[in-house]
Amino acid sequence: MVTTRAAICREPRRPWEIIDLELDEPKADEVRVRFHAAGMCHSDDHIQKGDSGMRFPVVGGHEGAGVVEAVGADVTRVAVGDHVVCSFIPACGKCRYCSTGHQNMCDEGKNASTGEFPDGTFRFHAGGEDFGGLCVLGTFSQYAVLHEFSCIKIPDDIPFDVAALVSCGVPTGWGTAVYAGGVRPGETVVVYGAGGVGSNAVQGARYAGAKNVVVVDPVEFKRDMAKVFGATHTFADAEEAHEFVVQTTWGQLADHALITVGVLSDEVITSAVGVVGKSGKVTITAVGPGQLDLPGGMLIGYQRRVQGAVFGACNPLYDVPRLLSLYRSGDLKLDELITRRYPLEEVNQGYRDMLDGKNIRGVIVHEH
Ligand SMILES: NC(=O)c1ccc[n+]([C@@H]2O[C@H](COP(=O)([O-])OP(=O)(O)OC[C@H]3O[C@@H](n4cnc5c(N)ncnc54)[C@H](O)[C@@H]3O)[C@@H](O)[C@H]2O)c1
Ligand SMILES: [Zn+2]
Ligand SMILES: [Zn+2]
Repeated sequence: MVTTRAAICREPRRPWEIIDLELDEPKADEVRVRFHAAGMCHSDDHIQKGDSGMRFPVVGGHEGAGVVEAVGADVTRVAVGDHVVCSFIPACGKCRYCSTGHQNMCDEGKNASTGEFPDGTFRFHAGGEDFGGLCVLGTFSQYAVLHEFSCIKIPDDIPFDVAALVSCGVPTGWGTAVYAGGVRPGETVVVYGAGGVGSNAVQGARYAGAKNVVVVDPVEFKRDMAKVFGATHTFADAEEAHEFVVQTTWGQLADHALITVGVLSDEVITSAVGVVGKSGKVTITAVGPGQLDLPGGMLIGYQRRVQGAVFGACNPLYDVPRLLSLYRSGDLKLDELITRRYPLEEVNQGYRDMLDGKNIRGVIVHEH
């Protein structure tokens, strides 16, 4: 048994709390990872606010990178000493979804909101109580036991802090544009919200060849950074962006709207549907209470489509190494995504900074 320091949330709206947890040994198909870095995705904030139907108490964090320290008897995907990132949805490789190129919807992802392992037990405990890791991970902990299906081996020379972001924010954003949206050369794309996820939607759209990558974000710093990631035009509000799109496309409107705001609202959905033209596609990745409340005619006449996307429709076993190779070749910016680094004890400050618009991504750097 290992003792690990972790940021946990006891019940909705209670701040993150730093406590020591007991961590079980890995079972046959599990591994223990020593996490070096954890990304602070907005989804953990949704969990902490109680928006997402999570079981409490919960160990936060679903973006993480570290080193495999111990493996169970049946583990074949990784070995002791391997550097890994975790995949926020596991990939079993053989369920209906994995075997048809949709690892983002793997059936083994079913326990994401309880943190229970497939055998119905938990690996984190304190005072006789079981703690589930978010997405059966818990990267806001120095150490965690993960199912091998949640681990993806990465090259040893990739820094842990940038690697951690390839657990969720990078593939989710990139894939929202490239896979779920299916952006093609010469198209016009509007991205609503340029935070940790949206910045990567911008990078994906640009790399896929979009002519216009139009960003809407109320925060000036985000708009400035969006230019670094490949945005061609940026606006503080949706109406201004709409006007620009009308002019620049001679009234044809955009081909894609990608919704990556922090909290999904009715207004942003309405703006996004209105900004795409004939055969236009709206892809919703953001989480929140927003509802699709539109006359059907808005969709029919122009044959618009509205869809949800999880994990950017990525296949993590393929896309995580591929995205890291694009980072290595200079085609994908990851260093620029990290605005600030925090010790675990400053997790609440990190989330305040995210909500105040100060961070593209904050990253927790674990001490050992
Ligand atoms: N579907 C998935 O698989 C998946 C995965 C990861 C994250 N998410 C969700 O994606 C969303 C984005 O996550 P993130 O980590 O990038 O959050 P973030 O807080 O880093 O970024 C959100 C951005 O939206 C901007 N914003 C806020 N209101 C806006 C508005 N009305 N119009 C335009 N921009 C606005 C903010 O200024 C910020 O830059 C969250 O809801 C998160 O829970 C979904
Ligand atoms: Zn996330
Ligand atoms: Zn599967």
